[in-house]
Amino acid sequence: ARAATPKIIIAGAPASGKGTQCELLKERYGVVHLSTGDILRAAVRDGTPLGAEAKGFMDRGELVPDTVIIGVVKERLAAQDCQEKGWLLDGFPRTKAQAQALESLGVAPSAFVLLNVPDELLVERVVGRRTDPATGKIYHLKYSPPPPEVPEERLVHRSDDTEEKVQVRLRAFHEHCDAVAGCYKDVLVQVDGTAKKEAVFAEIKGAIDAALAKEGEGEATA
Ligand code: AP5
Repeated sequence: ARAATPKIIIAGAPASGKGTQCELLKERYGVVHLSTGDILRAAVRDGTPLGAEAKGFMDRGELVPDTVIIGVVKERLAAQDCQEKGWLLDGFPRTKAQAQALESLGVAPSAFVLLNVPDELLVERVVGRRTDPATGKIYHLKYSPPPPEVPEERLVHRSDDTEEKVQVRLRAFHEHCDAVAGCYKDVLVQVDGTAKKEAVFAEIKGAIDAALAKEGEGEATA
C-alpha cells in the first residue's frame, strides 16, 4: 500500500518547538511548510497591507483576528505546491473558528501533533531564542547554539520574545488550546516536547508514518 500525501498540523504553546520540528519534518516528508507566524512577520517586514493589519496585534503578543489570517491560509493551501507535495501547517489553526474554517474547506489533516511543554520551560526558551534571517534557522543560545561560522551579530531576537509578551501569548494559547485540539480528536498525537529535539522528532515521525500508512490503506481499499 502507498502512504498518503502528508497533511500535517503542528500545534503547541509559544516556543514549544514547532518551528524546530518543522525544519526536520520538511526535510523528511518533502512537504510545504506553512508557518502563519513566518508569513505574518514577512508581511510586516515588507510593509504589505496584511502586515499593516497584523503588526499591532503581533507586537502586543495577541492573536491577529481570525478574518485576517483565515484568508491567507485558504489561498496558500489551494496552491499547486501544497496540493502536490502535501503540507505542514505550523501555528494554524489557533482558534476554534480557524479550525471550523479549515473543516468547511474540506481540509482534514492526517495528523494533528500537539507538543506538550510546561509553561516554566517556555520562558527560558523564548528569552534564549535567536533566528538567522539569512537561512531561517532557529537557534537557542544555550540548547542549540549557532555554529562558529554564523556571526552572532547577524542573529535576530524577535520583538515578541520578551518575558512580558510571552505571558500574553501563553494566555492566548491556553484559552484556545482545548477547543482546537477537540476538533481533531481522531488524529490527535500528543508528544512530550521537553526531550531533546532529535528524540521529539523520532516520536513525531513514528506517529506520522503510522497515520500515513493507515490513511494509504484506506485509500487503496476505498
Ligand atoms: P508564531 O510565530 O506562530 O509564534 P508562536 O506560536 O508563539 O511560536 P514560536 O514561533 O514562538 O515557537 P515555536 O513553537 O516555533 O518554537 P521554536 O521551534 O522556535 O506566531 C507569532 C504571532 O503571530 C502570534 O503571537 C500572533 O500574533 C500571530 N499569529 C500567528 N499565527 C496566528 C494564527 N493562526 N491566528 C492568529 N494570530 C496568529 O523553539 C523555541 C526555542 O526553543 C528555540 O530557541 C529552539 O532552539 C529551542 N528549542 C526547540 N526545541 C527544543 C528542545 N527540544 N529542547 C530545548 N530547546 C528547544
